[in-house]
Amino acid sequence: MFMTPRKIVFVVKSNTAVTAPTFSPRSPASSGGRLDVMLRSIIVALLDPSGVRRHVDFYAILGGPPNPPITLHFIGEDIAEMPFSENELAKIVLKVLRGDKIRGVELLKKDLIDCIKDLIREGYKLYYMHEKGKLIDCSYLRNPAKVGFILGDQQGLNTADERALKSMQIEMLSLGRTAYLTSICVTAILYLLYRCL
Ligand SMILES: C[S@@+](CC[C@H](N)C(=O)[O-])C[C@H]1O[C@@H](n2cnc3c(N)ncnc32)[C@H](O)[C@@H]1O
Repeated sequence: MFMTPRKIVFVVKSNTAVTAPTFSPRSPASSGGRLDVMLRSIIVALLDPSGVRRHVDFYAILGGPPNPPITLHFIGEDIAEMPFSENELAKIVLKVLRGDKIRGVELLKKDLIDCIKDLIREGYKLYYMHEKGKLIDCSYLRNPAKVGFILGDQQGLNTADERALKSMQIEMLSLGRTAYLTSICVTAILYLLYRCL
């Protein structure tokens, strides 16, 4: 008898995404310090054919200039609607960074490790996704009621973050030895989770 995960969380750290409303929604890759990687990952995590995946939360850890760290917490249960386009989502991120209140999105002054400690306290079983980890299979995905996945950006997590995860005994899981884009990994994880349940 397997339990359906009640909650799924994605934690993505970008070492370069800007931490101020200084970018243009038309060019999140260049003016946003590869914020496009984050936007794409948020959309695939939270957008569902029927609207928003209510059981998914997404922590976007922004580590670029000028004011790191900033975490944007997207709360699937509360988001009014999920845009289909990176451009529309970039406009929402811009508003949140300007201090506007947007339903279902919180701005936190937290870094990756703060977020992970809080999620562990909340009872999440967390995995760090990396191509050199143990090959993921259903045995990791079926049981936890609250399960979460930590991923890096286009450059991957830095050594200090990787060391901290190791010291917290967070297991490393892999989707195979090929390095995929972060957003592709989020899609693959959701596909496996739903298949395994
Ligand atoms: C484009 S990859 C980063 C590649 C980077 N050169 C590195 O060495 O980590 C983006 C992120 O997706 C995740 N990822 C990519 N391929 C993966 C795989 N085969 N298995 C598990 N996670 C993967 C990792 O979290 C990685 O930090």
